[in-house]
Amino acid sequence: MKRTLLLAIAVGLAAPAFAQAPAPDLAKAQQIVNQVCVACHGADGTSPIAANPSIAGMPADYITAQLMHFKAGIRQNAIMQGFSATLSDADMVSLGAYFAAQKPRPQDARDATLVREGQKLWRAGDAAAGVPACSACHGPTGAGMPKNYPRIGGQWADYTLAQLKAFKSGERGMDTAGKDINGRIMNGVARGMSEAQMKAVAEYAQGLR
Ligand code: HEC
Ligand code: HEC
Repeated sequence: MKRTLLLAIAVGLAAPAFAQAPAPDLAKAQQIVNQVCVACHGADGTSPIAANPSIAGMPADYITAQLMHFKAGIRQNAIMQGFSATLSDADMVSLGAYFAAQKPRPQDARDATLVREGQKLWRAGDAAAGVPACSACHGPTGAGMPKNYPRIGGQWADYTLAQLKAFKSGERGMDTAGKDINGRIMNGVARGMSEAQMKAVAEYAQGLR
């Protein structure tokens, strides 16, 4: 059962992920959030500090898939591997539904020059460098798309920058078992990006709404 669910999520872009998944238990999710997740992601999924991602309003399937990937070590992060270790598949489905239902809180960008550069890349990509437009998959307002395209609009720029670097280096998305099919897509996107482009687009995305 566990294996089937994980596999279904890994190919989630191509196939419906949750044919036999348990129904979300929002009361249970709320309990776990209040006891554990609140400290870093906020009770409503808006993180108070830049090192921790805001996860309010992300697609439920994306959140569930990331939790499963942390637990399985497919996405490597010592903090989240610890906090996902005791979660069941059902808990992860419930937490996905809980955070997907929270309202994302907009933020402002800080640097107007970076915002202008970032906006170009977001809307048009950089054909010469082989970088596609971010808006194609994350939406014109950065809201993300079901089931597997995360919200980037309103995300902390520091977190976005760190993830782009991790995708480019292969630290995220390139697990040896080849299970992170969605992460591989972003490896391809980030490959051609310069650090300056990453900084600019991360800054633009923080203010996007
Ligand atoms: C001690 C702080 C901390 C706690 C507690 C914590 N997280 Fe996290 N979480 C993080 C950090 C830091 C990251 C970013 C990891 C990385 O860089 O890959 C993260 C990443 C995530 C992500 C991936 C977000 C994305 O945009 O890809 C999800 C989903 C998540 N956490 C859910 C949870 C849930 C659910 C709980 C409660 C069971 C929880 N976290 C508890 C710090 C925490
Ligand atoms: C072809 C579709 C596609 C395009 C184009 C694309 N992305 Fe992504 N992106 C994805 C997918 C799928 C994921 C989820 C990866 C995963 O599951 O780990 C993702 C994840 C991300 C993440 C991680 C978010 C988080 O919460 O951890 C960031 C940051 C990101 N993309 C930024 C960008 C930027 C910036 C661009 C434009 C330069 C871009 N993406 C273009 C498909 C795309």
